[in-house]
Amino acid sequence: MTWHVMLEVVRDGPVPLGAQIADQLRHQVERGLLTPRTRLPSSRQLAEDLRVSRSVVVEAYEKLTGEGLLESVRGSGTRVAAHADTRIRKPVVLVDRAIPPVRFNLLPGTPNPVTFPHREWTASYQRAVESARWQGLGYPPLLGVDQLRSELVSYLGRVRGVLGSPEDTMVTGGFAHALGLVCGALRELGIDRLAVEDPSHDRQRQFIEENGVRTVAVPVGPDGLEVEPLYASGVRAVLVTPSHQFPLGVPMSPRRREELVRWARDTGGWIIEDDYDGGLWLEQRGRHLALQPTGPDRVIYAGTASKLLAPGLRLGWMVLPPELTGLMERVRVRRDLGCDGLMQLAFADFLRSGLLDGHLRKMRSRYRAQHGALTRAVERFLPAATLIGPVAGLHVFAALPEGADEEALVARALGLSVLVKGGRVFHDRPHTARPGLVLGYTALGRSGVEEAIRRIGQAYDQQPGGASWAS
Ligand SMILES: Cc1ncc(COP(=O)(O)O)c(C=O)c1O
Repeated sequence: MTWHVMLEVVRDGPVPLGAQIADQLRHQVERGLLTPRTRLPSSRQLAEDLRVSRSVVVEAYEKLTGEGLLESVRGSGTRVAAHADTRIRKPVVLVDRAIPPVRFNLLPGTPNPVTFPHREWTASYQRAVESARWQGLGYPPLLGVDQLRSELVSYLGRVRGVLGSPEDTMVTGGFAHALGLVCGALRELGIDRLAVEDPSHDRQRQFIEENGVRTVAVPVGPDGLEVEPLYASGVRAVLVTPSHQFPLGVPMSPRRREELVRWARDTGGWIIEDDYDGGLWLEQRGRHLALQPTGPDRVIYAGTASKLLAPGLRLGWMVLPPELTGLMERVRVRRDLGCDGLMQLAFADFLRSGLLDGHLRKMRSRYRAQHGALTRAVERFLPAATLIGPVAGLHVFAALPEGADEEALVARALGLSVLVKGGRVFHDRPHTARPGLVLGYTALGRSGVEEAIRRIGQAYDQQPGGASWAS
């Protein structure tokens, strides 16, 4: 019996014939076009059909067998492995989309839509539409519209200490888009591993892997990411959140920042700085500027409007080391034609007129009040927890005693209509990590925050052994 499969090879192309066969078969298995146990043609038959030498087919079959996608069965040749994962892998979505209907949502990270400055943004958007000509209505420059890049450079210099020029600033569709572009650029540079903080944004790690770059977890200590293991890992790029570590909230100490930049210079490495809630320090003292000015030649600085205004705007930016700007444009040209020009003009207007500064002033005072309510409620209702980090951003990390059953606590809280995320899910090896809770406080008013923590305290006390179980 001759088994037929749909394959084609291109002679004289850059990809070797064996790799072409393996890639096509892999693709078909992964998409479910070739289902488990499907018999494949014999290597002799396929070689004849494709007019290639038999060893080329053998090599491709062996490769896929090694990957667990094919298996050889005595007497009946090669077939798709019985346990091959043929489901199309679900795409990774960076944020929690399916939010259960609860009364108290403490998920970290998103500003409450009721605080969005609707009137001011509408005014900026209207001015943008009225003034738009080629900039705004034509295809935008790949780096972003000129007005926005200039405004960003002066805003970021003034507020975050970032050293940059409009020529090396790129507007993106949020940080996720920037990270995808960075992964593409790293691969162009021959870098296929990226160190990430442990703990870090759980879905970001998957997102990076989906973008063809392996992640290497490097621990975060009290001063921020540890640099020794970074040297030991041999990686050439690292993703960090130095101003307000996600999710622990600890800022990277000035000494650690120096050490990290020294690592980058010693190894020719790149640092990607995710300044995700940049500028949202809720107290005057102890503010940390960006890491980028410590090493503008080695740091890719990335920021986003998602925490400052709203994630729905899909606006972000990168300030690039000049050496990387051309490469980043080349990577981008293959993926998109730039971001919404009117939105960029509107944001430029919003920055130029001081509206972002005004909005953030209001948000700081609102968040400070919510943070205060949360701190008091934790002291009263959840005294076993210790809040870590400065008063900043949109969330706070509550460390729990070693023996606490984080998973059970999160489940019980959900039963009391409180949606909260445990801290362990952010760790590379969740079961070895210390338990904790990540408490986002922007969705609720002060009384809501207090009631949510009261219920968590109740859930905590319901554990076997009550309040003492975790001691
Ligand atoms: C650590 C971190 N970085 C960045 C982002 C923002 O990503 P984006 O700008 O794509 O909305 C988030 C949002 O949840 C985040 O938690």
